Amino acid sequence: MNEPPLGASKDALDTPCLCLDLDVLEANIAAMVRTCRQHGVAWRPHAKGHKVPAIARRQIEAGALGVTCAKLGEAEVMAAGGVPDVLVANMVVGPQKLARLVELRRVADPIVCVDHPDQVRPISAAMAAAGLVLRVLIEVDIGLHRVGVPPGEPTLDLARFVAAQPGVELAGIMGYEGHLLTVPDQAEKSRRIAEALGSLVATARLLEAHGMPCEIVSCAGTGSYLHAVQVPGITEIQAGGAIFMDAYYRHLCHVPELGYALTLLTTVVSRPAPERAIIDAGRKAMNIEIHPPLVVGRDDVRVGRLSAEHGQLELAPSAQDLRIGDRLELIPGYADLTTVLHNQFYCFRNGKLVDVWPLEARGKLA
Ligand SMILES: Cc1ncc(COP(=O)(O)O)c(C=O)c1O
Repeated sequence: MNEPPLGASKDALDTPCLCLDLDVLEANIAAMVRTCRQHGVAWRPHAKGHKVPAIARRQIEAGALGVTCAKLGEAEVMAAGGVPDVLVANMVVGPQKLARLVELRRVADPIVCVDHPDQVRPISAAMAAAGLVLRVLIEVDIGLHRVGVPPGEPTLDLARFVAAQPGVELAGIMGYEGHLLTVPDQAEKSRRIAEALGSLVATARLLEAHGMPCEIVSCAGTGSYLHAVQVPGITEIQAGGAIFMDAYYRHLCHVPELGYALTLLTTVVSRPAPERAIIDAGRKAMNIEIHPPLVVGRDDVRVGRLSAEHGQLELAPSAQDLRIGDRLELIPGYADLTTVLHNQFYCFRNGKLVDVWPLEARGKLA
């Protein structure tokens, strides 16, 4: 594909494509760092949404202590891109991954999660055999009911087990309050997050009371971080998508202030009816399950049904002058499931293309 030269405007881009406003991105990163500092917690942003080491490095330069990844493959890309302190907020299971984890540990300082001795034993054996020690977090189920050991005694039992194994070092615990992101009443949301994270912190104290270090108490996503940072005892938060923002975070999770840094540039390719326009972006270019995308600057255009490669727009009378060839920018409904459909971000400052960042960890599902 012929890429437009640096300095080009958005008109020079072919569509559909993802555009990043670097000024807004940097302002969002600065806001996250500020919020964390105000509350005395560290920021270990989830990189699953951006998948770009260059963004991770910017986050660390701005004050993040490392990144969080969802997959070992993402952590490998981050480490190769100069980001050695990576939390894999997931279980690492199976001989193929174990061999890779040993290699990763040789060049970086990753952390992995466990919630059962059956994950710990093989990791311990592989690390000890290689003469290495890997940091481990116990994932605690604080109500999401995805993975995790129940808080309290069951976590203490697993912590004792981890502490007794060679090749692994108990670095702390984590929990994710993902079931509380969309609680509509903000006072109730705050109360329920405090309660869920309170059980995480109480578990950390229990471990410490039994002589086990619990340096890291990690939690929180973009939809909850403003509440999570207020809970005493939390040491770091994982909120990642905040740097892009999207319609889901703003309108379902009620996250204020952060700007929309990420947009999907599209072209109107058909005008089959006065009240209907078709754009060149469908389900293979954006995600609508979590929240519909919004059209920048046009509250008279609504994103309707999507098929694989076509997007249907519903036009109010004031938008019916939209013509074939016109361009529209959409704010992703959920950035995390939109970025993954694309190969690169086109980075803009003041309307001029300044960089193109490949999503290097895209497709690293294993
Ligand atoms: C373990 C974990 N931490 C944090 C998050 C939040 O990520 P984000 O802030 O990008 O919404 C998620 C989202 O799925 C997650 O699974």
